Amino acid sequence: MNGSPQTPLRRALLLMGALTVMTALVLVLAVPAFAQEGTPPSSLNPAGPNSAVIASLFNVVLVIATVVFVVVEGLILISAFRFRRRAKDTSEPTQVHGNTKAEIAWTILPALIVVTLFVMALQTQQTLDAKPAAAAEQMTVKVIGHQFWWEYQYPDLGITTATDLVIPTGKVVNLELSSVDVIHSFWVPQLNGKTDAFPNHVNHTWIQANTPGIYYGQCAELCGASHANMRVVVVAKTPEEFDQWVKDQQADAAAPTDALAQQGQLVFSTGACIGCHTIAGTAANGKTGPDLTHVGSRTSLAGGMLTNTEGNLRRWLTNPPAVKPGSIMPNLNLTKTEIDALTAYLQPLK
Ligand code: CUA
Repeated sequence: MNGSPQTPLRRALLLMGALTVMTALVLVLAVPAFAQEGTPPSSLNPAGPNSAVIASLFNVVLVIATVVFVVVEGLILISAFRFRRRAKDTSEPTQVHGNTKAEIAWTILPALIVVTLFVMALQTQQTLDAKPAAAAEQMTVKVIGHQFWWEYQYPDLGITTATDLVIPTGKVVNLELSSVDVIHSFWVPQLNGKTDAFPNHVNHTWIQANTPGIYYGQCAELCGASHANMRVVVVAKTPEEFDQWVKDQQADAAAPTDALAQQGQLVFSTGACIGCHTIAGTAANGKTGPDLTHVGSRTSLAGGMLTNTEGNLRRWLTNPPAVKPGSIMPNLNLTKTEIDALTAYLQPLK
């Protein structure tokens, strides 16, 4: 214990230096990854007016927090270094108590910062609540949460679909959110903040996408075994592409022409499928599961967890609860022949 009294301090300084370098490295590597388009969806990469307002509030908070961090940590480091115990110095430091000026300053300053942030948050909330465009530029979609997928109804267009929320760019899309079972939360970080979907209550919010593209999101309220598998997919199309999509969706399902697909339709309409699913233009009008009239036109299956490919459709039909734990669709123990036929029938339903 007779070594240099500076050794513990040097060690502490080295440790602090190393931590600072590591933190800086993590930030430098992580920030571009968060801001990158597509993966993962980030509210720091806004694609619509709502998320842009939220991101700008976040940036202001980030700047204020950074200034506070640098000042406070800087003062701690300077104090620790300048007023450290020197070698051979055995005297007690001057004992002080209280400093009215300093105490008033460190009470008023944080209070001012908190009040400023509070007012800015209120202003942001008001901006988010305001409808930006004329009524003619708006449309409405009913968003209905299910365990574990989203249903979308377009009451003015007579369309019911699932999993992909298709919207036109540049238009305000009013969302009326509800749920048929438990509480879910609709969240597409690049388009807006979270809005809860309750049973027996309609919540309102709106989104608008600036450019065409696919914006991913996630159910943000723990809703059961497959909460994490309950994705949100927003497909934003140009107004022209959207009009074409509306025409396609309003049509009944195309009747199958090849033999295997016809066999698939028979399996579908004589089996358990029609108890839960609707295919417009056929006898199938079940309401528990997603409407499958144009299932082939969607980007994803199984509430957004699987890309819509033939292989994934087979995988899903073979054993739904194995893919999505807690899935309401049970394992129907379909034979390989039945799965071949159902796949041939459902895939071309564009
Ligand atoms: Cu729905 Cu979590």
